[in-house]
Amino acid sequence: MDRFIIDGGKSLRGTLRVSGSKNAALPILIATLLTDEPCLIENVPTRLRDIRLTFRVLEAIGKRVEVSGTNVTVVDDKPLKTRAPYELVKQMRASVLVAGPLLARFGWVRVPIPGGCAIGVRPIDIHLKGFEDLGARRTFEAGDIILDSPLRPGTIRFKFPSVGATENLMLAAAALPGMTILRNAAREPEIGDLGRFLTAMGARVTGAGTSTITVRGARHLHGARHAVIADRIEAGTLMLAAAAAQGSLRLLAVEPKHLKALTGKMRCAGAVVREEKDGIFMSMKGRPRPVSIATAPYPGFPTDLQAPWMAWMCLARGRCRVQETVFENRFLHAAELSRMGGRVSLSGKTAAVEGVPQLCGAPVMASDLRAGAALVVAALAARGRTMVQRVYHIDRGYERLEIRLRVLGAKIRRVHR
Ligand code: EPZ
Repeated sequence: MDRFIIDGGKSLRGTLRVSGSKNAALPILIATLLTDEPCLIENVPTRLRDIRLTFRVLEAIGKRVEVSGTNVTVVDDKPLKTRAPYELVKQMRASVLVAGPLLARFGWVRVPIPGGCAIGVRPIDIHLKGFEDLGARRTFEAGDIILDSPLRPGTIRFKFPSVGATENLMLAAAALPGMTILRNAAREPEIGDLGRFLTAMGARVTGAGTSTITVRGARHLHGARHAVIADRIEAGTLMLAAAAAQGSLRLLAVEPKHLKALTGKMRCAGAVVREEKDGIFMSMKGRPRPVSIATAPYPGFPTDLQAPWMAWMCLARGRCRVQETVFENRFLHAAELSRMGGRVSLSGKTAAVEGVPQLCGAPVMASDLRAGAALVVAALAARGRTMVQRVYHIDRGYERLEIRLRVLGAKIRRVHR
């Protein structure tokens, strides 16, 4: 169980290249199940725990994964199985995305129902309703869901723009000859990236990134080469870390328009943010003005940046509100921030944050990926030493975060135990 030891109060300054997006790479890697030809995926954050787990899921199903730096080649190894092992699905719920491609290709799939996790119950009813709308029948057995009967293209209207359900149904629709229309679809940039990959494989996807997506699928998809988009959540977290530590940061290879909800709010709080040709420049002096946020599906304020935002607002010159509308239990960082002197009180979906002039170091514990990132943001700004425990959560979504922050001048080290 690794820990971070952080001596806070050092201003962060410098330039970083943003990694490939974890949440875009995951469904794209899974999309390789749609073809028996080789695929080359570039700009994959291959050191991340969730990406490594995705390789294991693909291998358990029958693919071979070859990694060279950030390039990943996925090739057929043995005949594909149409079930995903519980051991892997329970560690990473996104594994449930294998249902779409396998069901559409082979007419039958068995996947364990992923349990809840630290941030919420996270059911998969919207995925399942989508498959049923395309003709699937479902049965349950020993904690698994079994989907069968050949799918046919059709029209689906999601009751909520779930990212995972939109991806799962796009993956299925790509292998169904004919036209499938997804309405009230998620609009996240990661969906647009999946659409581009499926199109490169021979499906025709239009509207990915809008609320109506049309997929014209094909029975035989071919291999493709694709470079994954930059990780907007990693970029946002680094910007908030540099702002909390009152520094300046130039991020390269990031798409500024993917971060508009964050950068708009950061400007309101007093940061200077400039969109550049190939990235973003941000600088911040002093404590932020208090700025309330409410999370929402894209293009709203990302739930994945709610926790790091709260950490920054703990230092605001006044009081603001942080509302979480996407997940029902994504405030576990609040109690840990309080251990560092933050003043946060919770009432249902809303946290009231009363800024303090200074946070102070303390031993704290990451409860999930973004909550862990929030503690690092707070620790970089705090007076004294913070020990962040359960760094494995952070390793799911940030590649060697401590090394990247050290480049900016942070005093942070990883301790193995
Ligand atoms: C994706 O999760 C991301 N994960 C999450 O990133 C991100 O927080 C989330 O989208 C929202 O942006 C990946 O891309 C791998 P949803 P996903 O389906 O697909 C409810 C991170 O830190 N819901 O849009 O699981 C659900 O419970 C993570 O990197 C249903 O009720 O998100 C939640 O409250 C964590 N039924 C809300 O919708 C369903 O069938 C949003 O979930 C599906 C979802």
